[in-house]
Amino acid sequence: MIYGIPPHGGVLIQQKVTGEKRQDALRQAEQFAKISISEWTRSDLEMIGVGAFSPLTGFLGKEDYESVLDAMCLKNGILWTIPVTLPISEDIARSLEVGQFVALLGHDDILYGTMEIHEIYSYDKLREALAVYGTTDTAHPGVSRLMEQGNLYVAGPITLLHRKIEPTFADLHRDPLEMRRYFEHKGWKTVVGFQTRNPIHRAHEYIQKSALETVDALLLHPLIGATKSDDIPADVRVQSYRVLLKHYYPKNRVLLSAFPAAMRYAGPREAVFHALVRKNYGCTHFIVGRDHAGVGNYYGTYDAQTIFHRFTPDNLGITPLFFENSFYCERCDGMASEKTCPHDKDNHVTLSGTKVRAILRSGEKPSPKLTRPEVAQVLVDGLKETV
Ligand code: ADX
Repeated sequence: MIYGIPPHGGVLIQQKVTGEKRQDALRQAEQFAKISISEWTRSDLEMIGVGAFSPLTGFLGKEDYESVLDAMCLKNGILWTIPVTLPISEDIARSLEVGQFVALLGHDDILYGTMEIHEIYSYDKLREALAVYGTTDTAHPGVSRLMEQGNLYVAGPITLLHRKIEPTFADLHRDPLEMRRYFEHKGWKTVVGFQTRNPIHRAHEYIQKSALETVDALLLHPLIGATKSDDIPADVRVQSYRVLLKHYYPKNRVLLSAFPAAMRYAGPREAVFHALVRKNYGCTHFIVGRDHAGVGNYYGTYDAQTIFHRFTPDNLGITPLFFENSFYCERCDGMASEKTCPHDKDNHVTLSGTKVRAILRSGEKPSPKLTRPEVAQVLVDGLKETV
């Protein structure tokens, strides 16, 4: 019996092996053909292995892939908005056969897992770009990655054999099963998940705490997988989350944990995906604010909210909590949103990750109206070398 909200598709998938079984699997894998995987694919492999991407048991086959692009569901009708696929080149594909097992190696030559090949298929990059990202512009980080990757997908169930755990935040790794046990131990029945790839600014804090007023607990779940190069590195962000929590959040109602997925910047589709995956971690609610998982001007401010209206509560199985664009208002002398503030825009200090990054890059410290001073200090210190 697993605690809490049913996982997506009903079963929390476990494709990782440990102990004796793992040793056997490692020995067997020595005989397998090797495929080199990107850092992005390595994190997908990990997410599938630990059950975060339940009901997926491996990389998507053609029918599931096409159904995800066209209908935002797997071929069995279960809602799924992002294709989770393993790209390979034609050259590599020539040496592989359906039915064969392959060893999946990271750039560091570590064996991260194995896969039984069920299918090798071609796909249309422009079609995928349009369906997932809504654009074929290669200035979009998701589209540019897609255009550079191999022309074929190899699909099949995986086994996870190795994890990449950053020593500086090893204490923040909690898989879906462990997370659910933790929620049970704390007696939390309703937990709101918060996705971020940025340091927490005052608008984030405002919407998190507004949500926390109505549920038992908050899971602060920053993404630590691959992001675009001008995003703030995960190690600096993690330090900033720790100081923020220490000074401004109630200890017994908030959990910080790392989300080891890669960032797709797929806006609306990724917002739904983020919600479903947080359900697998045991969250009952999920925050979707302004331009969730957006980049540049590819998506409308609230597209990532309106997409949820296409699905029934049963399809989703997790409750999205929507928040309007939030800001600091000089007249209110505090945080507010279009929904709660009667004053005109001249009084508003707008807040976004992009703005905070731009201030840091110019060598300045963001004002307390944007970021808590303790967080600003961590960012200034941590980014001296990198921005
Ligand atoms: S991302 O993963 O969605 O790209 P980001 O850190 O930018 O992460 O935002 C985290 C969450 O906060 C998202 O749900 C986003 O919509 C929301 N958000 C960010 N800034 C604001 C803001 N000023 N007002 C309301 N919601 C916001």
